Amino acid sequence: MTRIAGAADVPPGTVIRAGKYAVGNNNGDYFAVSRRCRHLGADLSEGSIDADGCLVCPWHQSAYDVRTGQMVRGPQGAFAKIPGLGAFYQALTRVFPLRRQSVIERSGDLYLGD
Ligand code: FES
Repeated sequence: MTRIAGAADVPPGTVIRAGKYAVGNNNGDYFAVSRRCRHLGADLSEGSIDADGCLVCPWHQSAYDVRTGQMVRGPQGAFAKIPGLGAFYQALTRVFPLRRQSVIERSGDLYLGD
């Protein structure tokens, strides 16, 4: 197992970088997903967690279900005006979701499951 950080360093609502993963705490549920947004490659460890517990990309606010790695809302802003673009990325991530990894909490520390 690879140590990520102390659990206290990842309070609810935060996302941090851990190697190839963005690790977050959604109301006490930890998750780890690969860091590169499937849209244009933004670093998802710099993203945020929305009210639905989805990981939101820092560049164009696409949203990912961290349990499946699938995009549930396509890129926003000017990209949202392109017909079919959001549906395309949602379909793409059904086939190529973000990689997921388990996060294990042990004695106050977080580890990536291997
Ligand atoms: S790079 Fe993530 S939504 Fe555009």
